[in-house]
Amino acid sequence: MKSTKKLQIWGVVAILILLTLWLKWDNWFYNPIEPTYQTNGNPSRILITCSGDFLTSRDITWQSDPESLKGSIQYLDLSKPSDTTIMYVDGLTIKTSGGAAAYFKIKLKNLTPGSTYKYRVSNKSNHSEWAEFKIAPLTDHSYSFIYLGDVQDSINGQSSTLFQKAFDSQKEAAFIMFVGDMIERPHDAYWGEWFRAGGDRFRTTPVIATPGNHEYYKGIVQKLDERWTSHFSFPTNGPENFLGRAYYWDYQNTRFISIDTNGIQSISSALEQRSWLKKVLETNHQKWTIVFMHHPLYSTSRGRDYFYLRTLFKSLFDKYSVDLVLAGHDHAYGRASSIPNSENTGKQGPIYIVAHASPKVYDIDFSNKMDKLASNTATYQLLNVSKDSIKLSAFTAKGVYFDGFKLQKDSTGAKKVTIYTTKSDPQYLSPTKSYLQKSSKKEIEKYHQEMQQWISKKNP
Ligand SMILES: [Fe+2]
Repeated sequence: MKSTKKLQIWGVVAILILLTLWLKWDNWFYNPIEPTYQTNGNPSRILITCSGDFLTSRDITWQSDPESLKGSIQYLDLSKPSDTTIMYVDGLTIKTSGGAAAYFKIKLKNLTPGSTYKYRVSNKSNHSEWAEFKIAPLTDHSYSFIYLGDVQDSINGQSSTLFQKAFDSQKEAAFIMFVGDMIERPHDAYWGEWFRAGGDRFRTTPVIATPGNHEYYKGIVQKLDERWTSHFSFPTNGPENFLGRAYYWDYQNTRFISIDTNGIQSISSALEQRSWLKKVLETNHQKWTIVFMHHPLYSTSRGRDYFYLRTLFKSLFDKYSVDLVLAGHDHAYGRASSIPNSENTGKQGPIYIVAHASPKVYDIDFSNKMDKLASNTATYQLLNVSKDSIKLSAFTAKGVYFDGFKLQKDSTGAKKVTIYTTKSDPQYLSPTKSYLQKSSKKEIEKYHQEMQQWISKKNP
């Protein structure tokens, strides 16, 4: 009898596993076939980024066709009489199932703080347009940047409008930060879409990014698209197995730290990033610390929970007084600014932000941990950092101010948070169209009850 019962239990378990695999197969394992693409001999997808000292260096990357394996850059300092410098570089051909392209990466070093530079890149006799970039002066410790969440736009999508609004609002941004999922899938066409949305600004303002799950090929072991590491050039000071993906750099008065959350696919990869992070935080002497990562510690979306990330990182964030944690992935805006600090009771913990810049929206989870929420809109965030404060302002896709705060820190490290938010608006909290389609009347009623309870707690 006992063995029959055991068999029955194992039978049920096997059926449940098969059912889960059947339901989740596409989500977990299916990589859509990449459509065929061709590249021509002109330099294209030109991007400015940085892997070294932000006040004296810049990296320029671009692509061309696989026949153009020699590339060059001409650049000059416009702030003083100077000759044009030429540098040459060999391309790296990357073949994917849809085609091939050559990728180029050049590091410009010993640049002068406060100078403006002009450059163009070339393959054979094909030249790009000239573009300019500025290096901040050594004396200016205040700066601004733009933070954008998941883009994942469809081909010929809408993200360029949102990008443009963000770019126009922060013309002097030191850099543009993306927290992963810039593309829908690792396909040439989606990369093309992202570069088109960025337009000329990607040639003049450095882009800083951390990888998301959509830059990875799905599978039992997920693999980062090689185009990610070819388009971007970031510091290689991360853990050995995450070079250029998990990294840190210091800019003015701030330490920025990228964690590759999608790279956490085993206990060893989790511990490798955690022990590296601990060292990076222990040796940090900057006034401000900003962590950016794709998956958030606190979810804004229904049915999602990142327990493993809290287990891995929260105590470190609290102990070493991280100021901001900027994330994406959940396709619903969220600000959690009153999470208790588990290591320093009574002290302000990090402020956690989740954001996205995508036409794709998810349903909100009305968690008490969140002090502000929004679905049904993408947002862009503008940040201003000075020696005394960090100010974040979030705007809807229509350019309407939605949420923000000012974080101040005195010389003893004591923090003060002042919130500048807007009254709860049902248009940003109501169920999404897809939720209304897939849910029963009872579930929709429950959603509205949770929404009202959350509003009454968070917006008295
Ligand atoms: Fe994601």
